[in-house]
Parts: sequence; structure tokens; C-alpha cells
Amino acid sequence: MNSKWKFDLTIAPIFNDHISRSVPYYIDMHDIISDYIKLHPKEKIIITDIGGATGYCIREINAKIGFYHPTYYYIDSSEDMLIQAKRECCGIDNIHYIFGDLIDIELPHSDIVLAVFTLQFIPIPLRKHCLEKIYSALPPGGLFFLSEKVCSPYKDIESNFIKLHYDIKTKNGFTDEEIIRKKESLIDVMWTLPPDKYISELSSIGFSKIEILFKCLNFLCFLCVK
Ligand SMILES: C[S@@+](CC[C@H](N)C(=O)[O-])C[C@H]1O[C@@H](n2cnc3c(N)ncnc32)[C@H](O)[C@@H]1O
Repeated sequence: MNSKWKFDLTIAPIFNDHISRSVPYYIDMHDIISDYIKLHPKEKIIITDIGGATGYCIREINAKIGFYHPTYYYIDSSEDMLIQAKRECCGIDNIHYIFGDLIDIELPHSDIVLAVFTLQFIPIPLRKHCLEKIYSALPPGGLFFLSEKVCSPYKDIESNFIKLHYDIKTKNGFTDEEIIRKKESLIDVMWTLPPDKYISELSSIGFSKIEILFKCLNFLCFLCVK
């Protein structure tokens, strides 16, 4: 029996390399997010990154708007990831590190919230409550960047997307065994939904604009405006 996927000490030090070889255009997606944030008013800005992992998102944003000295809140439910983030973000002194679970944590008031490939690890019935908390943490006009692995509602397209993703992982150096082991380890740990389910949930919560900022195969980023 394969062990379940965990964000622990075995993955934290190699996470950046692992995710950038696993998620198509991972680096470009972060580039687009941080470029978009650059267009937003930046004075006294508060940015919360939920499931911040190694802090890559915060580092990318800070590389573009660090001059304005934003306040960052980094939240993650993995202590090993948090320790790794502190190491990798040691040059940025305006980050508040919070070890906590999105499900029960109180979120700080923020101009921008990011959940980049984090919500997918929360069981589907608990997600609405998490999205409502994120909505409440934002002011009117505040931005929420939600990146997720989704699935296609069309069986034939879904199976082609899976094949193409498999090929990308192979090209990026993963063996067949590694790909299959990871897929099995994510069963009952990560859950995907089709994009339209997100759109209807986000709009029912109250987000006034929901746009797809990035999408490649089953990996996408929603830009949501309160
Ligand atoms: C795929 S990684 C996120 C990648 C990262 N956001 C980025 O931009 O590279 C998922 C992260 O979410 C964290 N996580 C998973 N479930 C969580 C939860 N319920 N609350 C807070 N963090 C969570 C994991 O510990 C992990 O660090």
C-alpha cells in the first residue's frame, strides 16, 4: 500500500524543484500573478498567502513590489514547510508566519489573498466555509487569487489532459513509477472539481468578478474580485 502524500520533511527541501517540474508553467503562472498584483494600489498593502509552502509566491511578489514594503501573512498547516519558508524568505523581514489550518484559523484583514494549489487539499464539503472566510477577510475590491488543479467535465478531454500532463512530467524527468506513486498517494488527500463548480461557488459567496487568469490543461488560476 502506497503512503499518503504529506507536506513533511521529505518534500519541503525539494518542493520548489518538485512542483515546478510537476505543474505546467508553474513559474509563468506565478509571474502572471505577481505582475497582476503590481497593477494594484501598493501603499500599505496587506497580502496573505494561504498554504504558502516554501514562500515562493511571496518572494515573487516581493521581487516586484517589495519597494512598497507590503505586510505579508504566510499561513501553512505544515510546520516543515513553514521552517523551509523562513529559510528561503530570510531576506524579507515583513512576513508574519502563521502555523495553522485554513479550516479553523482566523484570517487577517488583507487587500489580497492567495491560495495557490492549497484549497484542493481541503475536503470538498469544507471548502465553502473556507472561501467565505477568505471573502470576509477582503475589503470591497480586494483580490483573491485561487490556483487549483481542476478536472474536465468531458471524459474524453479529461483523459487527453491527463495523458498530456503525464508526458510533461516524463519530459521533466519523472519516472513512470514516480508518476504513478504520486498519483496514488494523492487519493483521498487531494480532490478536483470542474472549473464551473468553482465559479458558481465563488459567485454565490459574493465575489463580483471571477476571471480565469491562467489555465493550462487541468491547472488554473482564478482571479476573483470582492
Ligand atoms: C501545493 S502546496 C502550495 C504551493 C504554494 N502555494 C506555491 O505557490 O508554490 C500546498 C501547501 O498547502 C498547505 N496546506 C494544505 N492544506 C492546508 C490547510 N488546510 N491549511 C493551510 N495550509 C494547507 C500544505 O502544507 C502545502 O504547503
